[in-house]
Amino acid sequence: MPAEFKMEAVELVTISDIQPREENYLALERGNILYFPRTPFAFPEEERELLRSTGLSSSSHHKNIAYRPAEDKVTGFDPAAVSDPEKLRDVMRTYSERALAFLWKLLPRYMETARIDFASFRPQEEEGRDLATKKRNDLLHVDAFPTRPTGGDMILRFFTNIHQTKPRVWTTSDPFSVLAPRYASAAGLGEVASHPKGSLGARVLGAFGGVDAKRSAYDRFMLGFHDYLKFNGEYQESCAKYRFEFPPDSTWMVFTDVVPHSVLSGRYALEQTVIVRRDTLARRENAPIEILQGLCGRQLA
Ligand SMILES: [Fe+2]
Repeated sequence: MPAEFKMEAVELVTISDIQPREENYLALERGNILYFPRTPFAFPEEERELLRSTGLSSSSHHKNIAYRPAEDKVTGFDPAAVSDPEKLRDVMRTYSERALAFLWKLLPRYMETARIDFASFRPQEEEGRDLATKKRNDLLHVDAFPTRPTGGDMILRFFTNIHQTKPRVWTTSDPFSVLAPRYASAAGLGEVASHPKGSLGARVLGAFGGVDAKRSAYDRFMLGFHDYLKFNGEYQESCAKYRFEFPPDSTWMVFTDVVPHSVLSGRYALEQTVIVRRDTLARRENAPIEILQGLCGRQLA
């Protein structure tokens, strides 16, 4: 008998205060987007303007301008178009600090043990961007970082649209709890699960697939799943789609490994990522690793 899957739409949850509330954790973990119509901290216009005047380095492989909080370093910008790199770094650092302070107020249980990842600035217009399929932002995907495996913890991203007039337009689809039962097996879950971290099988697959055998099976699966979804025309065509327009000055946050997402248009978005430990979730069974382990009956990290 074919399994039946509950359809679960992704909703925009508008919040007006910054109290830590259980329903905010639950909304995020179920795959909803927490949304502030106005950015909920000070962000002076001159800082926004400095960012909008900063271009992406054309000579590099960078997709975005990145800020690494641990090293206090900015990469990916066009040095010819930035008169004062230190000022750019100050603005990126300030955004990162404010976003993190805000997350501490809203989601303290996550933040107590979360790992602070990069912040980024996305200066390019997303509509019509010419990128290789794997890198395209306009195809639905769940996030996985090639250089920063999570070991089963989760990718929470906090975004702010600093365009003066244009919204940032996203499409999302049903969350991981709906996606995985349909596609994880076809995407190779059984194969990955049968080759634990460091095993001969994982080393062989790693050598051929270019994926490091030292990664957990979970991280290997998620990297492959990111690509699988982007290359799957049937999925891109037929899946449920929810369109969201994030207006200028709005802020939103979402687990981008739980919610398939794509960016259709918009430019000048800022973003801060934190890696949330799955043992701090309100409902641990919401974590993609738990969903996958339930499907394949094996430990993946
Ligand atoms: Fe993404």
